[in-house]
Amino acid sequence: MKIVLLGPPGAGKGTLAKIVKDQLKVPHISTGDILREEIARQSGLGLKVKSYMDKGELVPDDLVIALIEKKLSDPAIKSKGYMLDGFPRNTHQAQTLGKILENIGQPLDFALYMTASLAVILRRLSGRRVCKQCGTVYHLTNRPAKQEGVCDLCGAVLYQRADDNEETIRKRMDVYWESTRPMLDYYQTQDKLRTFDGDLETEEVFEILLKMLHEDTKVDHH
Ligand code: AP5
Repeated sequence: MKIVLLGPPGAGKGTLAKIVKDQLKVPHISTGDILREEIARQSGLGLKVKSYMDKGELVPDDLVIALIEKKLSDPAIKSKGYMLDGFPRNTHQAQTLGKILENIGQPLDFALYMTASLAVILRRLSGRRVCKQCGTVYHLTNRPAKQEGVCDLCGAVLYQRADDNEETIRKRMDVYWESTRPMLDYYQTQDKLRTFDGDLETEEVFEILLKMLHEDTKVDHH
């Protein structure tokens, strides 16, 4: 499977990617997760990107493109494909990705666009909690941890992302409408865009995705 997951913040991209990774063993590459790890390690890259991320702005293209290029050079990508989450985020990133994928001979199958209403986005992001150690994502009401503030899987403490406050969520939405939403045309003109209702339960979205992949394989064989 070779896909990119697109959609506004909180559409459920990371949550869907986790199910696909667990069930289909497709490598999940999330630029947001990689950048947050760099910030936690206080690396040179982490120090450069922190202020952009805290404000809800996009990190400069050259930094994220270099990251993605390195990740896609992993030999596992050739055998297992990839699921990119949070990249690309503007038309320049999408065009550059197209060239990188052409160079490594692994062109995209689909761009999955997950939609979500603003009310759902605000509810999801303000209630999101993430494990500091293993990165498992919870929600205060939708997916609560068994013991509040503690990860069910590894027992570490849960935290709220620095950009999950209402002011920064609104800024991220502005950036999404200005830079990311127009990029969908790039995939639409290539007939690679598939739209999913992100307001649905993640398991339902996963079922729809499986059905779509199955249909596509059938078409390929005729
Ligand atoms: P990133 O980490 O990519 O954040 P985002 O795109 O804003 O997306 P989110 O992680 O907030 O949402 P999601 O759709 O994954 O939702 P999730 O599944 O967790 O980027 C952060 C920042 O990094 C950017 O602002 C930018 O600065 C920088 N950056 C990253 N990539 C970049 C790039 N390419 N270029 C430049 N800068 C870049 O779900 C949210 C919550 O809802 C969870 O609590 C979950 O439990 C719950 N939930 C999810 N789905 C459902 C459902 N179906 N039903 C009920 N609850 C659900």
